[in-house]
Order: sequence, then structure tokens, then C-alpha cells
Amino acid sequence: MILPIRAYGDPVLKKMAQDIEPGHPGLKQLIADMFETMYAASGVGLAAPQIGQSIRLFIVDASPFAEDEDGEPTEDAHLKDFKKVFINPYIVEEDGEEWSFEEGCLSIPNIREAVMRQPKIVLQYQDEKFKEHEETFEGFAARVIQHEHDHLDGILFTDHLTPLRRRLLQGKLRDITAGRTEAKYKMRFPPAK
Ligand code: NI
Repeated sequence: MILPIRAYGDPVLKKMAQDIEPGHPGLKQLIADMFETMYAASGVGLAAPQIGQSIRLFIVDASPFAEDEDGEPTEDAHLKDFKKVFINPYIVEEDGEEWSFEEGCLSIPNIREAVMRQPKIVLQYQDEKFKEHEETFEGFAARVIQHEHDHLDGILFTDHLTPLRRRLLQGKLRDITAGRTEAKYKMRFPPAK
């Protein structure tokens, strides 16, 4: 089932998400719904708060970046298997010189901004069977994880911008919160104050 994606301004996006335990009710269906929702919105990652659940869970699928339209491997061919579920993830290390990349977010449609992040991370997490992992990710994979991991701590990519950049975006962000936006997927906007 496709779930509506919470828009910028929804309080759930600013909350610290909670760990979950094996046997979390409805988890399997929730993960399936999140993949369906992410694909319907052509996203690369989706965090549970974005569909209104304040739990430490996000999914990614960057495998489309591994092939071009003709099915030939691209320079990101290593992303072929980068379809994953991350439960209770915590970044335990970040390393390297910050690099800039234009990020977007399904909760903030039609805005893309350059965000600086370190290129290498070590992530502790559990998979959908709650098996423990500690894994190193680099480059684009690290970038996607950092963005989604931020969502679990109530941080959006706009929080990484300079105060000036943020001020320039203020009007557009207010429009999104008010529902004045053209997303090509189902969204849910916070009730007007
Ligand atoms: Ni996002």
C-alpha cells in the first residue's frame, strides 16, 4: 500500500525516532509499504518518520543508478546490490574530507541544495531479521545513509545549509508546509495553525 509522505513542517520529521525490537507489530508489512511508497515517488531512500512513524527504520534502493537506460553498468555499478533495510542504525564513525552533493528529499519536493558531508561512515545496524551488522560505506552509498539516518534524529538536509541559504528558501518551504507544491506522489501536509 502506498502511504502518504509527510511534508516539511510536520512535527514527526523533527522528532528523535525510537529503537524497535524484534516482533515489532506490523513490521514486515510496513517495510513492504515503505518500498512501494518509495518506488512510487522515484526515491532512493525513505525513513519511517516520513510516513509518520517515529521509529529507527529506513530503507534504500540505489540499484537503478548501477545501470544506464540500456542496462549497461555505469560508474556506480557497485550500487547494484544497494537495496537494503536498516533497523536501529547508528553512525559510529565519519571520516574524510567533506564533499558537496545536491540533495533532495521526498518530504521537501522540488528543492535541491548542495550539502557538505564526510565521504566515509561506519554504521551499526540490524537487518530485517534483526541480525547485527557493522559496515563501512563510502561515496554515494554513505551519502544516502547519512541523509536517511539524519531523518531518524529529526534532522533534514535543509538544517545543514547556511543561515543565508535557508533564509532564501524560507518562502518555498512555507509553501510546502501549506500544501502549495506540485509533488508527483501522495503527500500529507500538517494541519494549518
Ligand atoms: Ni529525506
